[in-house]
Amino acid sequence: MPAQLIDGKAIAADVRQEVADEVAALKERTGIVPTLAVVLVGDNPASQTYVGAKGKACIDAGMGSITHRLPATATQEEVETLVRELNADSAVNGILVQLPLPKGLNERAVLDLISLNKDVDGFHPMNIGELVMKGRTPQFIPCTPAGCIELLKRSGIAIAGADAVVVGRSNIVGIPVAALLNNADATVTICHSRTKDLPGKVKQADIVVAAIGRPEFVKGDWLKPGCAVIDVGINAVPDATKKSGQRLVGDVAFDEACGAAGYITPVPGGVGPMTIAMLLKNTVRAFKLQHGLE
Ligand code: GUN
Repeated sequence: MPAQLIDGKAIAADVRQEVADEVAALKERTGIVPTLAVVLVGDNPASQTYVGAKGKACIDAGMGSITHRLPATATQEEVETLVRELNADSAVNGILVQLPLPKGLNERAVLDLISLNKDVDGFHPMNIGELVMKGRTPQFIPCTPAGCIELLKRSGIAIAGADAVVVGRSNIVGIPVAALLNNADATVTICHSRTKDLPGKVKQADIVVAAIGRPEFVKGDWLKPGCAVIDVGINAVPDATKKSGQRLVGDVAFDEACGAAGYITPVPGGVGPMTIAMLLKNTVRAFKLQHGLE
């Protein structure tokens, strides 16, 4: 039987509706709405698209949206000054600095500067530290990893007791998603470019999260029959049949994987829409924390 598709678009729409309902209730109660400030430096086309989508999602949910666009020539001091201003602005509940920053800017210094209680990306080392420590609760969970877990939960896939393999160990996805799976009582293996017998490791997994950033890297015959596959990759590959000359594929060879997996997320339309939905949720949480409503 071919794998069941996990419809990230539909699940994200449900989450966004829940957020919109909560925003309306908060507006009724306080007279104000949660507001997200996004900082975009430079003119990376993918970042422009993502930032536009984030702003639109805020507006659609009834939230406030502020976008600050700085030129690629902006200095470290200019970016840091803007983040300090947003930290101090009580009308701003969440701050997101779109990554990657243009070459020459110190990304780490900028991320470390964002107020912990406005860090809706969850990238601050304190948030990540609390995520991986036993018995600690981070203020915010990074959006893409949180979206992966939400997809599993809302598809009725058991995490507790499952063997999970995460392919990739980035700060943004691999490390935090492994921590979340561990916190939900999966037995987690993190794999990377130096892993021995990667296909053999993946073959053991009830849950596979692919976040290595390489097109169609995980093959169908690596998968345990019936497993759940969460594909975080978004890679453009050449395709002469498309008007744009390219198409998007994930980190998993989708057609092959459909023959083996029990559940799988498509690309696009899987994890991608969940990132924005979870960002909205984090911004509502920030608002509630800042107004003593949590
Ligand atoms: N660039 C790609 N993904 C993300 C994300 O989730 N947050 C930020 N700030 N930048 C990104």
